Amino acid sequence: MSSSFGNLFRVTTFGESHCKAVGVVIDGCPPGLSLTEEDIQPQLTRRRPGQSALSTDRQEADKVIILSGTENGKTLGTPIGLQVANKDQRPKDYGEMKDTPRPSHADYTYQMKYGIRASSGGGRSSARETIGSVASGAIAAKVLKEKFGVEIVGWVSSVGQIESQGIDGNNLTRDIVDQNIIRCPDHAAADKMEKFVAELKEAGDSVGGVVSCIIRNVPVGIGEPTFDKLEAKLAQAMLAIPATKAFEVGSGFAGTRQKGSEHNDPFTMKNGKIGTTTNNSGGIQGGISNGENITLRIGFKPPATISMPQETIDFAGVKATLEAKGRHDPCVVPRAIPIVEGMAALVILDMVLQQEARNAMKFQ
Ligand SMILES: Cc1cc2nc3c(=O)[nH]c(=O)nc-3n(C[C@H](O)[C@H](O)[C@H](O)COP(=O)(O)O)c2cc1C
Repeated sequence: MSSSFGNLFRVTTFGESHCKAVGVVIDGCPPGLSLTEEDIQPQLTRRRPGQSALSTDRQEADKVIILSGTENGKTLGTPIGLQVANKDQRPKDYGEMKDTPRPSHADYTYQMKYGIRASSGGGRSSARETIGSVASGAIAAKVLKEKFGVEIVGWVSSVGQIESQGIDGNNLTRDIVDQNIIRCPDHAAADKMEKFVAELKEAGDSVGGVVSCIIRNVPVGIGEPTFDKLEAKLAQAMLAIPATKAFEVGSGFAGTRQKGSEHNDPFTMKNGKIGTTTNNSGGIQGGISNGENITLRIGFKPPATISMPQETIDFAGVKATLEAKGRHDPCVVPRAIPIVEGMAALVILDMVLQQEARNAMKFQ
């Protein structure tokens, strides 16, 4: 069972939805980086449940504690341990799911795989696990920002059938994205999305959506040939996030409908350096960053736990009607933004460290 990710910046997450605490151990963080809880907390606060009328009503402050790996506000190069307490658990809300697995959740597959599962809250399949990715991703993002000026910004680009229009990722900041609670910078679309999600929450239903992400100022040459191509690593990272069903880089599926003459990104000089006039490649060619912005889209399904009655069967094969109690997200995409940003930072930093090691040993 792999709870670890990355090679040179290696993170191992731990914890279930209703255990005492969740967290992460980070091995390979460069020494001498200024680091306190204040560097990590903002992204956890953007991820936390109970943050708006559109998210689950589970109330968690998600205050992070640095357990190890720093002294006097500087990283030591030793493993960094981070912990966040679980406080607002309500195991009794999951009583009816003990014998009846939730359709399209992980109850059935975990039970069949292990023969046992956490009795409430989805255990390890819960989005509580992503606290470790967000917290370690915040540290990776800080390293990348300080060394290379890398900027990573995610936003909600669609909810259900409601699509945003005219968003220019090149100038987007996290502050702009956070101007509304659905985290969509097209305010007209955001209003519609917010109303729609609020209606579904009231009705006990749920809906999916798409998160877009831009990664700016990535140095040229990041990514390894063949199996560790940069888009392959990013795809793995993004599809490891709970509820993800789709991943696109650059033009993605839309590019399949174009001709080569329309899709190619011609080279040009930009500020004395080689760049491209368009960016259908999404900043990656041959699995290696080309210096243009990396652009991603990640598709999230509607959360499986809905309180509307669903006809299903229990583990004994007997017909059952499941009406989930408890507090659940009607749409995960606003809370998924810092998770996507965190996973992107983990991939880029790990690949940067590999390229830096190679550069240090080059003969020419
Ligand atoms: C931020 C976030 C919040 C989530 N909240 C819920 C939730 O409240 N209820 C639910 O059923 N699933 C929720 N999920 C999704 C489940 O964790 C996920 O669907 C489940 O573990 C099954 O895994 P899979 O969808 O990847 O197959 C959430 C996912 C994310 C990223």
